[in-house]
Amino acid sequence: MQFFVDTADVAEIRDLAEAGLLDGVTTNPSLVMKTGRDMFEVVGEICGIVDGPVSAEVAATDYETMLKEGRRLAEIADNVTIKVPLTFDGLKACRTLTGEGHMVNVTLCFSANQALLAAKAGATFISPFIGRLDDIGLKGSELIEEIRAIYDNYPAIDTQLLAASIRTPNHVKEAALAGADIVTVPPAVLRGLIDHPLTDKGLAAFLSDWKKTGQSIL
Ligand code: G3P
Repeated sequence: MQFFVDTADVAEIRDLAEAGLLDGVTTNPSLVMKTGRDMFEVVGEICGIVDGPVSAEVAATDYETMLKEGRRLAEIADNVTIKVPLTFDGLKACRTLTGEGHMVNVTLCFSANQALLAAKAGATFISPFIGRLDDIGLKGSELIEEIRAIYDNYPAIDTQLLAASIRTPNHVKEAALAGADIVTVPPAVLRGLIDHPLTDKGLAAFLSDWKKTGQSIL
């Protein structure tokens, strides 16, 4: 499974990329707003740090303007992925933009049928939102399972399943168990995957015993 980070925070992206933990980045208008920066500047900077796909989202809701915005976003760098919403116009834009050779991430997916249509529209990535389904009392990870099973029924589908709206380490595990190709994870959750109290306890014991030996490796 590949790991994308779900943020527009360049410092976080640089740090995680240097650790070799990143295969790509996803942004959205809310994440760009949090930075207080210009989207073109931020996305350009991110594309210079990460070689993998970097999603940047259109702001229009009509087909023609989505196309114009998508093409403009794609000019930022070769690894820009144009993010479009899962609407009729979004799917139409997806078909046109992928036809032009661009990568397209269809976002705001909340049902298996929506994911089927995104694949039909030639989406490079489909982004089902786990956390937001959990928010309304549903089980977000079940949607990942359904989409995986459906896509696997049709080997011609090459849309990659990108689990989004990941809020907890458990969401990451559930997405992996359900067969997601990619998870996009906020930086704090990604760092949280490393933590385990028994790791901390074990390390403290090893360090204490090592000190008692009086030895030095270097
Ligand atoms: O990539 C989409 C993701 O950012 C949405 O996450 O936590 O706002 O539901 P959230």
